[in-house]
Amino acid sequence: MQVQATPVERLCNTRSIITVNGMFPGPTLQVRNGDALTINVVNRCPYNITIHWHGVRQMRTAWADGPEFVTQCPIRPGGSYTYRFDIEDQEGTLWWHAHSAFLRATVYGGLVIYPRNGSSYPFEKPGSEFPVILGEWWNSNIVDEAVNVQSGGAPSISDAYTINGQPGDLYNCSSQATTTIPVSSGQTTLLRVVNAALNTNMFFSVAGHAMTVVGADASYTKPFSTSVLMLGPGQTTDVLVAANQPPARYYMAARAYSPAVGVQFDNTTTTAILEYRPGGQTQPVLPCLPEFNDTSVVTDFTARMRSHSAVDVPDPVDVHLLFTIGLGVTDNGNGSAASMNNVSFLLPSFSILQAHHLRVPGVFTQDFPVAPPVQFDYTGTNISRDLWAPVRGTKVLPLRYGCRVQLVLQGTGIVVAENHPIHVHGYDFYVLAEGFGNFDPAADAAKFNLADPPQRNTVTVPVNGWAVVRFVADNPGVWLVHCHIDAHSTWGLAMAFVVEDGVGELQTLGPPPPDLPAC
Ligand code: C2O
Repeated sequence: MQVQATPVERLCNTRSIITVNGMFPGPTLQVRNGDALTINVVNRCPYNITIHWHGVRQMRTAWADGPEFVTQCPIRPGGSYTYRFDIEDQEGTLWWHAHSAFLRATVYGGLVIYPRNGSSYPFEKPGSEFPVILGEWWNSNIVDEAVNVQSGGAPSISDAYTINGQPGDLYNCSSQATTTIPVSSGQTTLLRVVNAALNTNMFFSVAGHAMTVVGADASYTKPFSTSVLMLGPGQTTDVLVAANQPPARYYMAARAYSPAVGVQFDNTTTTAILEYRPGGQTQPVLPCLPEFNDTSVVTDFTARMRSHSAVDVPDPVDVHLLFTIGLGVTDNGNGSAASMNNVSFLLPSFSILQAHHLRVPGVFTQDFPVAPPVQFDYTGTNISRDLWAPVRGTKVLPLRYGCRVQLVLQGTGIVVAENHPIHVHGYDFYVLAEGFGNFDPAADAAKFNLADPPQRNTVTVPVNGWAVVRFVADNPGVWLVHCHIDAHSTWGLAMAFVVEDGVGELQTLGPPPPDLPAC
């Protein structure tokens, strides 16, 4: 993969953006479960960059995970790094993206994982398959945006939402290039929907057609039919669409889900076209998308997600964690901050994984709190101003190899409540329950789904609510946990687990690859 600056025209003007191989979005990689991947990334752009393989478990290959200053120092302009990792027991749709400042705004692509050779989908083989990658487009320079947000500024609103890089018919100068997906009557199409937007939760619908959800985050789900999806940034959803309507053209459309009161966003709609061939050049109609703040649609949708088969939920729990996730203000009160357990994560200028492995002191401290420092009414409207300004630091939480972890993610109403998509690197986890208000360990345990909870790598924690996830810490390394709304993670809504080595080769992270970029 060659990272380079490329002129791209959108919304009536041409900008030089950072791309992979000159493509926007970048190439969608197609692999099989069980494959060993070797991907050489050459940086020919003027910025430092890393690539992250979002959702890939990276078993014992933390060196290939990619987040800048967490598992590696960046690839400098002119440099290169070869990412080597295996796909182990994951099938469906993932994606890859830059993990340096805001560069992922344009540096991203799909990662499709087909079943192992000789095995097949747990559903009828579709006639065709297409990625549907939701994104955002800025007319301004995204690196300037990142610098502004790093100093506590508010992110500016993107100028368009996109599907496979194209804003679609409803935006200026965009109708010629609208993404078109061909279908033939009577056939079923698998759409691999990815939310690659930088800062926006998105609804997605197809006019006149129901969708059958069959997978999410590269895990199969029990099939269910729905007219709308909601994906937080980072999430993927695989759906089957049967071409069973009169042959014509139908819009697929996406727009923001934004429950945070008073937060500005682009409320226009991005479109692509589902086109029956043969069919005729009819003017497509729009699907009916939910209102931008319709949380009940989100609650109903997420409640229907179940693992395809019964699963082995980690039990009993060895480590109980409760992390508050919320926004805040900087010390001087003039800018925005964000935190977990009142710690605003500070990215170091040396890789945490290297520091951990080589015992380099002074890069991080191991005192990330297992619970909020003070208890309060997390989702109340009258939260004391004393709780608004978090402490800054590069704090990590050590986990013993093999321990069973329950993590409660508790949203807060500090400054403004939001639906936060929380992503855990290096792990899939089971989402046992979600709810509104403050998590109640006694009463809410009764709601846990211990039979067939969905397996995800990113959970959208409901606005003014909570989610409970469980995983086994069976992958040694340093693993970033963060809100996938990039403005929030930049403001500090992140932490990292340090999972210690176990015993023997299969439980141990080996030495860094020789070409790991120097710090
Ligand atoms: Cu998709 Cu840390 O990222």
